[in-house]
Amino acid sequence: MNFPIVGPAVSRVDGRKKVTGTATYSAEWARPRLAYAYMVLSTIARGRVIAIDRSDALRQDGVITILGPQNAPKVDGTSQNPNDRYLTVLQDDLVRHDRQPVALVIADTFEHAKYAASLVRVEYAAETPRTRFSHGEHYKPKDIKGEPPDTTRGDADAAFAAAPVRVDNVYTTPIEHHNPMEPHATIAEWDGERLTIYDANQGVWVARDRIARVFGIPPANVRVITKFLGGAFGSKGSMWSHTVLAAMAAKAIGRPVQLSVWRPQMFGSVGYRPGTSQRVALGADRDGKLATQIHEVVSQTSTFDEFVEPSGAITTMLYASPALRVTHLLTRLDYATPTYMRAPGESSGSFALESAMDELAYATKLDPLELRLRNYADMDPTKNLPFSSKSLRECYRVGAEAIGWSERISQIGSMRDGPDVIGMGMATAAYPTNRSKASATATLNRDGTASVRSGGVDVGTGAYTTFTMIAAETLGLPLERVDFDLGDTVYPEAPVAGGSQLTASVGSAVKLASLDALAKLKTLAAADARSPLYGIDVAALDVANGRLVHGASSRSEAFEAILARSGGQVRGSWEAAPGVEKNEYSMHAFGAQFAIVRVDLDLGTVRLVKQIGAFAAGRIVNAKTARSQYLGGMVMGIGMALLEETRPDARTGRFMNANLSEYLVPVHADVGAMDALIVPEDDSHVNEIGVKGIGEIGIVGAAAAIANAVYHATGTRIRHLPITPAKVLGLAEAAPELQS
Ligand code: MOS
Repeated sequence: MNFPIVGPAVSRVDGRKKVTGTATYSAEWARPRLAYAYMVLSTIARGRVIAIDRSDALRQDGVITILGPQNAPKVDGTSQNPNDRYLTVLQDDLVRHDRQPVALVIADTFEHAKYAASLVRVEYAAETPRTRFSHGEHYKPKDIKGEPPDTTRGDADAAFAAAPVRVDNVYTTPIEHHNPMEPHATIAEWDGERLTIYDANQGVWVARDRIARVFGIPPANVRVITKFLGGAFGSKGSMWSHTVLAAMAAKAIGRPVQLSVWRPQMFGSVGYRPGTSQRVALGADRDGKLATQIHEVVSQTSTFDEFVEPSGAITTMLYASPALRVTHLLTRLDYATPTYMRAPGESSGSFALESAMDELAYATKLDPLELRLRNYADMDPTKNLPFSSKSLRECYRVGAEAIGWSERISQIGSMRDGPDVIGMGMATAAYPTNRSKASATATLNRDGTASVRSGGVDVGTGAYTTFTMIAAETLGLPLERVDFDLGDTVYPEAPVAGGSQLTASVGSAVKLASLDALAKLKTLAAADARSPLYGIDVAALDVANGRLVHGASSRSEAFEAILARSGGQVRGSWEAAPGVEKNEYSMHAFGAQFAIVRVDLDLGTVRLVKQIGAFAAGRIVNAKTARSQYLGGMVMGIGMALLEETRPDARTGRFMNANLSEYLVPVHADVGAMDALIVPEDDSHVNEIGVKGIGEIGIVGAAAAIANAVYHATGTRIRHLPITPAKVLGLAEAAPELQS
């Protein structure tokens, strides 16, 4: 029961199911008389639907019905709490963005539905969409998930004016779409007033409560099941329109209905990372000591809903400086509503801040790593609280050593490899430690196995495995004797698998529920005259290998022997919740990102030679799946730095590259040598298991490290992502159209 600070590297307990095709994803449940729905999406970004001609489509083989604003059942799709998104579920004729659902074809097969959908003719009255930041009404959001949108320390502008060294630039990040391997999908099935939804989402309770409100039925009437998810990255953290549309269709035809979102439809109404425009102004003395940091963020939201990309949040806590001003503004444009995408805020914000720090390093002629050490924050400089733990110095040290930072020649363009020029860059990473209320049950069975349950979703990160490990460790059982199951609202309630919080939240509940079960088992044994442990003080009992053990007397008894006599099982349960730690400590995971790039100065191509990330995130339950999360984040950082950009046509507001053929994500050939190093960190404050969360920090700073390496190689500072060959060659426009 002594948890290691860095746990063993354990392969996924669900790995065999995944590679043999027996892991059931949401679109794959076999339901009797299943019908298929396919969305017809708008081809304009703003205006009205005048008429929908369904006649051709209705005549096609297998078509059952077609829903549109005229005949769709009336439901409530408007936003009702801050984490809900406004849903477009055929309740009116307004078109608010490109690829908005405007009709739904239901047929006996997916292919019939999809083909018939291509024959639905929609007539629009189009209006000119507002597609550039300068078109939108700029406003300050009331709050960002309950936190104020602005943060100030001292007089940031006066300190900037007085600073002997200043850098002051605008950085932009483009719209990015999540593109998980598994597109969104739902199967909805009604039984009278009861609804079962098999849905690709990150949190089954979020989906349950929302859909219950939309249909005006009690949440207890809705069951949501999500057993396997093929990635999400935040896109499945909210419930979106298609899930309701599937349930509407199922109700309309009295059969279960599957709705799969086709890849190009993923660029419609299931969220994206908003474009940002960020001014970062740093003022320092000649020794690189920061006097002030100014970070002004503008990001986009939709005309009908609000999402704030909190890019400035990381700036409020990362570096010590007497003065600081961080502000967030929104601009309303005629695109769909943006949403959380892996490290929402930290990833886009760290590109701006860590690029600016690199610019300051050159302005002060300091090594970029040395500059960061000179501004190291030993306390949270805004909250004025100690960090629960912070091993960033060790991350810098370990990462610098692994990348060979000491061999970096500071002179720009001075490192060569044949015809290519080599650059080395670095950046800092940080991500807050989040946690929500979560429950679990742990049942010790008569055969000596344990069944452990909590409803959180495994988004593909390895949650099945880590929770099995936590239960097994706590219960003193080998892994194969623990059956852990999740992803169902019939199980104990768990929060959304977002904000890197699932392991901290559910892991704590699993540990406490397991301890609760053990306490009951110990009491049973100690009270039973037939047990060798009879009369022993329960506090003196340990567990090992499926036995309760009394160390002092070497007496012990197997779980199954105790349970056989008592005639059944014991069941522990626990609700774990955040406590006062948030008021006493600032809690964050930290890391250091390093990159070596090779640039072809004739072609402008950038290739990753090597990437090293070193991360300290409290206790690591499973070294294998943790490393995999870090590496995945860093690879996504390559995408952010070099490839990913959803390009709207500013005249029409339509996305021009809405498919994986033109929306580029990194493939193997884009990745160089890479490693993620785990820096051991013991944190007794964050939660019962000392876990900080690892799902998102791997992308934070990754793009800046690459951009900084490109500057070191070429002397070209690219402040507008992604870093395309045209920009490296100086052929692209200064600022992107979206932010103009
Ligand atoms: Mo994550 S973007 O909080 O799912």
